[in-house]
Amino acid sequence: MPEGKNVNRMFANIASRYDFANHFLSGGVDYYWRKVLADRVAAFSPGSLVDLATGSGDVAFKLRDRLGTAVAVRGMDFCEPMLEAAREKKKERPEYADLEFTFGDCMQLPLDDHSVDAVTIAFGVRNFEDRQKGLEEIHRILRPGGRLFILEFSQPRHWFRPFYYLYLKYILPRLASLATGDKSAYDYLAGSIEAFPTRAQLADHVTAAGFPRVTARALTFSIVAIHEATK
Ligand SMILES: C[S@@+](CC[C@H](N)C(=O)[O-])C[C@H]1O[C@@H](n2cnc3c(N)ncnc32)[C@H](O)[C@@H]1O
Repeated sequence: MPEGKNVNRMFANIASRYDFANHFLSGGVDYYWRKVLADRVAAFSPGSLVDLATGSGDVAFKLRDRLGTAVAVRGMDFCEPMLEAAREKKKERPEYADLEFTFGDCMQLPLDDHSVDAVTIAFGVRNFEDRQKGLEEIHRILRPGGRLFILEFSQPRHWFRPFYYLYLKYILPRLASLATGDKSAYDYLAGSIEAFPTRAQLADHVTAAGFPRVTARALTFSIVAIHEATK
């Protein structure tokens, strides 16, 4: 698994171009993935929510749009330049004024035990230095009955893999280098996706962190999946 300080440095380097690269390299399908995530969270109807590894905040903003101002939404990340990008975007819309973006390392979260109703984490678990420790931290901060939502890359359907890995390994890093000037971050992305567990394996990790029941829903040929787990 990657070292936290290297991950932090890598995201600090691409923070100012992260959003553009995200939408461009995914062909805009990332909007759809966040919408499905927000719909799933809305169905759970939490009173309070923390979006971990929030980065430039797009999941937190989407959740605010979907859930309304009655639900306390807070974004946390360990990379200050990414948080700064989120704080800048927050200024664009008055309804985002109460959203907080604060420092929080998923290996040791500055939150009390059993203190939140729901946790979302999009494209963050893959970057954890210690996956099990991070999932256990999330379990610690959730109240009993609270729910974890993980949006993460997965292993795509077999027939789709050759096309997908061709894109990830050979095309994406070159496009990313044009979009961000940093090819290495996207070489890392391809490697981390290829090495990431299947849906069933990630579900096992989540169960081992203390969640008795985990469900997984695949999206877009299983390029990504949403895992949901209740404490
Ligand atoms: C690929 S970005 C995802 C950002 C955002 N969730 C999204 O969907 O666009 C991964 C983010 O995870 C953060 N991250 C990685 N490891 C972390 C950790 N241990 N604690 C907090 N944030 C972490 C990085 O700083 C980065 O902002």
